[in-house]
Amino acid sequence: MVDEYHEGFHEHAEDFLRQLPKGVFITTKDADGRVNTMTIAWGHIGVIWGRPVFIAYVRYSRYTYDLLVNAEDYTINVPKEGTMKKELALCGTKSGRDIDKFEKASLKLAPARKVQSPIIAECALQYECKMLYTQTQEPALIDDKVKERYYPTHDTHIMFFGEIVDSYLTEGD
Ligand SMILES: Cc1cc2nc3c(=O)[nH]c(=O)nc-3n(C[C@H](O)[C@H](O)[C@H](O)COP(=O)(O)O)c2cc1C
Repeated sequence: MVDEYHEGFHEHAEDFLRQLPKGVFITTKDADGRVNTMTIAWGHIGVIWGRPVFIAYVRYSRYTYDLLVNAEDYTINVPKEGTMKKELALCGTKSGRDIDKFEKASLKLAPARKVQSPIIAECALQYECKMLYTQTQEPALIDDKVKERYYPTHDTHIMFFGEIVDSYLTEGD
């Protein structure tokens, strides 16, 4: 938790929420210096504990999960609406266990302002998030139809609550 409340967290929320179902990137650098990104289309921007927070949903099976549990922070990198389709598809189907996605998708990393994890420079909007809380799902409490559709192999999502400590526009695509 940081002392300063990032008051501008909602400024670009509409742009963010329009692009989210099409895909945004979650990028993280773990304590061992490993960096990876993947596409996500689920998440929330909101307020908890009097702080602006982003919640990402990442399945156990993802390489990104391995990094996030060993990381202090992550960034959310949002393409200008409707752009970077190829990059989102690649980062949403290939694993950082097998390839360097930044190289394969020609994505340029740049330092973030307030966190260790880098940002993706080609994206138009950035959120920097410091890990506050991690929560597993309780399968017994999930609606049966949702469970059948989304969790036939019990690969549930872990929720990573990150305090939004900065958000800003970058030049992007
Ligand atoms: C549009 C789109 C949205 C996705 N959203 C999520 C998501 O919210 N959570 C998740 O765990 N996986 C999601 N995925 C799947 C991961 O991005 C995919 O499994 C990725 O290859 C994992 O990479 P990693 O093993 O390097 O972490 C999404 C994929 C696409 C194409």
